[in-house]
Amino acid sequence: MHRCALLFIGLGIAIRPALAQRPDSAMWLALRRATQEDYQRMLRRLGIDSLRAGPSPAEANTDESKVPPYTLPDPLRFADGSLVTTAQQWWEKRRPEILEDFDREVYGRIPPNVPPVQWEVVQVLREKRDTFPVVIKKLKGRVDNTRCPSLQLSLELTLSLPTTAQAPVPVILHFGFAWPPWMQRPAAEKATLTEWQRLILMRGWGFAELIPTSYQPDYGAGLTEGIIGLTSCGQSRKPDDWGALRAWAWGASRAMDYFETDPDVDATRIAIEGLSRYGKAALVAMAYDQRFAIGFIGSSGAGGAKLLRRRFGEQIENLASAAEYHWFAGNFLKYAGPLTPNDLPVDAHMLIALVAPRPIFIGTGSPEVEGHWVDARGMFLAAVHAEAVYRLLGKTGLGTDVMPPVGILLDQGEIAFRMHEDGHTNDPNWPYFLEFASRYFQHKPAR
Ligand code: GCU
Repeated sequence: MHRCALLFIGLGIAIRPALAQRPDSAMWLALRRATQEDYQRMLRRLGIDSLRAGPSPAEANTDESKVPPYTLPDPLRFADGSLVTTAQQWWEKRRPEILEDFDREVYGRIPPNVPPVQWEVVQVLREKRDTFPVVIKKLKGRVDNTRCPSLQLSLELTLSLPTTAQAPVPVILHFGFAWPPWMQRPAAEKATLTEWQRLILMRGWGFAELIPTSYQPDYGAGLTEGIIGLTSCGQSRKPDDWGALRAWAWGASRAMDYFETDPDVDATRIAIEGLSRYGKAALVAMAYDQRFAIGFIGSSGAGGAKLLRRRFGEQIENLASAAEYHWFAGNFLKYAGPLTPNDLPVDAHMLIALVAPRPIFIGTGSPEVEGHWVDARGMFLAAVHAEAVYRLLGKTGLGTDVMPPVGILLDQGEIAFRMHEDGHTNDPNWPYFLEFASRYFQHKPAR
């Protein structure tokens, strides 16, 4: 699906206006009410009466000269103030410390009792897509619900591989869109390849689409459903329990578990890609699961690659609103009142640093076309400040702190950055990402 024309409504769900069907308003209203109840319950649990309101996209600051100064936490300084000077200290102490901060304050913890997922190939199709002979495996990851039989769920994954491959191939895992329950699905779109899928097959690689909302709904009322609800058996969350971003990333890791078992796939060469909220989820997956070899993080903005301390575009107060709070741990709400983003023990540069030394491509659109909500500079600066960790681990990150103009690719080190000329879509950046990935994927590592 082309994402240029996505429109953001109500509960924070994206729909495409031309294809949008009439919403089932009764269902939508009920979900909105249940979301409000869950949101208020979490605020009470945190002892918070009210939060600061975030700006609308029209009111948000878009003037560089009005960004107040801020100080970022140092990824290479321990909580006790001493410096990290060796890679060993990073891996053994500082990295776990940062992960703990993200777990507790930002994305939430995965409970220890998450049930196992059993993958099943439900259909195998051998077809020609355009000129490419492909094998398409439709998979379901059934989640063991013995502990909570009232909730049933499975992860939806579709894997497409070139049939011409002589050896296991790299796969690009994409977070895909599915219609929310209160919208009628439009008639099925024709089974043609998108341009990026064609480019992947041309390289002899495969691609997979994981539907995040098949296992975690994208609204607050859904926190008692999906994998989060299954593990709590329908109870509301504790303040440090996982939110939807962590859950979506968990699903990507389960897809990775499947790839490790499929002899047609080279699980050492898996990339993960996402746009917008799924760009955030792809970055979280990269940070937490080191099996992902490379990431393509598109227009991820606040809660993704953008520095939360920067007062420009979308703000923490927006993320903490009833439309988006479910992406995060409950504890994250505190930073929209009484605390501020400056009180966070981490910021987005540290999330990128968790990816080090693996390669990552941070992309976005042209601010003129996409708008300033995602804060392209905020993402660029986060990448700049992740560099110290890449260097400690013997790599370079961006290798510069000068932001390139629209259309100019930075790819000298392990962090690539590019603003394309279009809007809220990854499409124009795909060829650049695939070229970047080919640097790492062309030599097949020994298994
Ligand atoms: C909204 C939201 C963003 C998010 C985007 C999307 O614009 O404010 O944080 O990335 O929706 O996922 O489409």
